[in-house]
Amino acid sequence: MLNGKNVLLAVTGSIAAYKSALIVREFIKKGANVKVVMTNAACDFITPLTLSTLSKNPVFKDFVKDSEKGVWNNHVELGLWADLMIVAPATANSIAKLVSGHADSFLLATYLSARCPVFVAPAMDLDMFKHESTQENLSILTERKVSIIQPEYGELASGLEGEGRLAEPEQIVKAVRDYLLNIATLKDKRILITAGPTHESIDPVRFIGNHSSGKMGFALAKVAAERGASVQLIAGPVVLDTPSGVDRINVTSAKEMFEAVKETFANIDVVIMAAAVADYRVKSPALEKIKKNSSEMELLLEKNEDILLYLGNNKKHQLLIGFALETENEIKNAEKKLISKKLDAIVLNSLKNKGAGFATDTNQISILQKDNKMISFELKHKNDVATDVLDVIEKLL
Ligand code: CTP
Repeated sequence: MLNGKNVLLAVTGSIAAYKSALIVREFIKKGANVKVVMTNAACDFITPLTLSTLSKNPVFKDFVKDSEKGVWNNHVELGLWADLMIVAPATANSIAKLVSGHADSFLLATYLSARCPVFVAPAMDLDMFKHESTQENLSILTERKVSIIQPEYGELASGLEGEGRLAEPEQIVKAVRDYLLNIATLKDKRILITAGPTHESIDPVRFIGNHSSGKMGFALAKVAAERGASVQLIAGPVVLDTPSGVDRINVTSAKEMFEAVKETFANIDVVIMAAAVADYRVKSPALEKIKKNSSEMELLLEKNEDILLYLGNNKKHQLLIGFALETENEIKNAEKKLISKKLDAIVLNSLKNKGAGFATDTNQISILQKDNKMISFELKHKNDVATDVLDVIEKLL
């Protein structure tokens, strides 16, 4: 479950910070990529060098990396890199700041930027842990969907005995794995997702393409993998990082995409065709660069295979989900495609809606199902749109 996952360990200033070395090792052993962010106080208990050596990555502590050269650490990038963020050990002070939304350290700013599931493993003396303030803060974090990894009972650094010892590293890893297992609602499902545009060659340096960024398809791949599906992503020419746990095949043209889809289709449970496949290709692409010798030029185009239509005509057990990007008569056009391509559902987005469609980070969709049911959603970030689409797919499955 943790193989290939990006784990961000956030270490705050508790005596239990020494255990963070073991936590890093446990996650590395499970195949995770680990990065560490620390507060200044944490560095009094364990050195960044220890944690960077074990995690095989630089450790983050300050906003400014080199003030003379103006080089800084990007908390937003780090927050978005993380698939999981674990604050361990979490002091009473840090927990209070997580609740209040303080951003006076790099660690806290990264927490505010993270979109991933967050775990907090408190470590403090028993009375600090039992205190109403701490307990209320932990309840607020729980309400905000942060998972609390309860401390253990035992001897504490103060010499007192009680609840407040940081959970053992194996227990922390187990809590994270249990969480992932619990959300693995698509475990055992194989999902094929196409994303991005296709490029149809005119000559060795030019192509016919479209404005698709691939962001919607990649967001779907990310969320499907987070839910435990085995995801085969077939991506057109886009410069996007492959979400962790996703198997990616790169293609350029519609023809290549068609071949790649056909090769994997038989073993697949769900196909989501989010790619903006070119409907036509140049009949005879030039072998050498075309020179601008005449004032006009004509390109003869021939039709590409409609991949989704082929899948609709050849499907056995597979669930088929299409996308429709329309500029007019949206619902009618989407319905036509749903029927003609024998789809189970089609995701409709209209270029008339601001913030929807190509190249943006947001999208506004409606999902039409073959039983004529239609659900419309608000404008959302593409990751949240992906969640809505996969919720519908889970119901259809
Ligand atoms: N699609 C496909 N193969 C193509 C063209 C489109 O598999 N050659 C898929 C897209 O990935 C999308 C759905 O079909 O999921 C709808 O694509 P769209 O281009 O909007 O519809 P078309 O059927 O091509 O109709 P038109 O271009 O006339 O709107």
